[in-house]
Amino acid sequence: MLINPKPVTVEGSYVKDYEKLYKDSIENPEAFWGNIAKELFWFKPWDKVLDWKYPYARWFTGGQTNIVYNALDRWLKTDVSEKTALIWVSQDGTDKKFTYKELNEEVSRFANGLKSLGVKKGDKVTIYLPRIPEQFIAMLGCLKIGAVHSVVYSGFSADALKNRIDDAQAKVVVCSNAYPYGKKTIESFKNVKEALKDNKTVKNVIVVKRIEGATIPVLNDLGGAQRSEHAHGVKNTVSSDQSLQSYLWWHELVSKQDTICLTEIMEATDTAFILYTSGTTGKPKGIIHAHAGYMVGIYTTLKWVFDIKPDDIFWSTADAGWITGHSYILYSPLINGVTTFVYEGTPDYPDIEIWWKLIEKYKVTKFYTAPTAIRALMKFGEEAVKKHDLSSLKILGSVGEPINPEAWLWYYKNVGREQIPIMDTWWQTETGMFMITPVPSVGLKPGSAFKPFFGIDADVVDDKGNKVPINTQGYLIIKKPWPAMFLDVYNNPARYKETYFEKIPNVYFAGDSAKIDEDGYYWITGRNDDVIKVSGHRLGSAELESAFVSNPKVAEAAVIGKPHEVKGESIKAFIILKVGIQPSDELKAELVQTVRKSIGPIATPDEIDFVEKLPKTRSGKIMRRVLKAQELGQPVGDVSTLED
Ligand code: PRX
Repeated sequence: MLINPKPVTVEGSYVKDYEKLYKDSIENPEAFWGNIAKELFWFKPWDKVLDWKYPYARWFTGGQTNIVYNALDRWLKTDVSEKTALIWVSQDGTDKKFTYKELNEEVSRFANGLKSLGVKKGDKVTIYLPRIPEQFIAMLGCLKIGAVHSVVYSGFSADALKNRIDDAQAKVVVCSNAYPYGKKTIESFKNVKEALKDNKTVKNVIVVKRIEGATIPVLNDLGGAQRSEHAHGVKNTVSSDQSLQSYLWWHELVSKQDTICLTEIMEATDTAFILYTSGTTGKPKGIIHAHAGYMVGIYTTLKWVFDIKPDDIFWSTADAGWITGHSYILYSPLINGVTTFVYEGTPDYPDIEIWWKLIEKYKVTKFYTAPTAIRALMKFGEEAVKKHDLSSLKILGSVGEPINPEAWLWYYKNVGREQIPIMDTWWQTETGMFMITPVPSVGLKPGSAFKPFFGIDADVVDDKGNKVPINTQGYLIIKKPWPAMFLDVYNNPARYKETYFEKIPNVYFAGDSAKIDEDGYYWITGRNDDVIKVSGHRLGSAELESAFVSNPKVAEAAVIGKPHEVKGESIKAFIILKVGIQPSDELKAELVQTVRKSIGPIATPDEIDFVEKLPKTRSGKIMRRVLKAQELGQPVGDVSTLED
């Protein structure tokens, strides 16, 4: 099935002839990216577009810029200054709007606040905030002064937060006292207190008061912050619980600060941020992104894939705790000078029509979400969508996991009214930007992510690196560097090389499997490396297994992802108990809590089986592949290395 774009979409599209432009871009990617980079602001132009010393790519070397200069400062002397940069709608339906000028002022205040606490260029700041404006202000504030943010998704547990704070050696943590989540109140501050027990690097904790009133129990815990009201909010060490941190309220800190703060001049390859993501080992990896290359990559991809025009209101339903939120809620929309839209709540709160109501009310023009959300909303039928006037929408998008043709067609028919195209964008935390994606003017096949973006040299190969035949599944690889390519894995260069550049020499190994069809369209079939995608959230089998074995009753654990109708994949665990421990439903419930405590509610297992043995290689490695095949009733394949 080929779905062609409507003439009006093609007319408005930056790219009219994908094939020709792709060919040109691939013949000389450096010229291609260099030309685009000139559209942005540089304190000093680059000497070289690309410095490629396998496996490290450094883009725009010798150049100086800052993402925040391009996202905010650049607009201040233009008409964009008075335009809305951010529309934020709270769970209770009230909204806050910030013009570019206002956002810059808030960011400058926060940046000055950080400076007043002694934060300098290169210092790490962990941001553990829900989807509220301060999340974005904090991110921009860090980059403005050259500090490096590490955003931790607010749904992660205290243990997961602790690992990420410790690995980054953060100097400051920004969090909220609590926050509303549907009908619940999440006491996020408790997690921070727990994560900071024994911590030696964090000096200051800045607390946003998202929920008013001291009736929230956690506020009583906020010793330092409450005392800080008497101590002018700064440098107020809490000694009662032996912690080394000063706690201060966000509003107190920023109220004293100036609304002007010079944006730091950054070398092109300086680190902008670290974002932790799951891989094949028990410990998440800190993916490092630089200012310049990342900025050029995300600017271009959003502009061309979503045909960004000055009046756009772009809504990505992700959270800034993930790469989608970094690249396409915050930075790219602002670098493109348009309005980014954020809803605090979940897709089903206060009811399952909320997304469609918001699109109608705020006249959202471009809407970007995940297949899992589409599948969840599909369950409630078409009526909830059809009631609403969604005629402001011009382009739709999908990300995070393969979108099944059924969900694609539902989205196309009911949200897009068969008038507007869906951009199914394949990319990763590591790639920073869209890699395999359509542009609006091309013909689409439901379920296919189309072809590589301009300048992206992708392919599908076997384990020797040879191209596989048409319609044959193989490994997705990228053969040449791209601008938003990550710099490294923080504190772990060996892992950078092993995971991404040594499985198949000379190319980037994505960890996904794919097929290319007779028309050159890519079909992504899922991960090939023990990474599990639950509702689009990335979790590692090994990470889940170490969570299980942290329970003293567990001897061994093996975790696999199983296909799930709504979530894409669900978590199934096989557990060997310690001698003398009896299996029971209570114990299953206890283990669910163990995992939630270690990672967070997103990692809640769906199934737990108690077993006597696990399939292992002679060297003792659990063969999850065998478990998975058995579970799905598929052939187990080569088991010659199986011990028993
Ligand atoms: O398996 C692919 C899947 O998400 C993985 C990357 O996860 P993460 O780093 O958390 O970034 C998610 C948002 C970019 C990929 O390796 N994935 C992402 N987008 C798609 C996808 N799978 C199929 N189709 C997509 N459009």
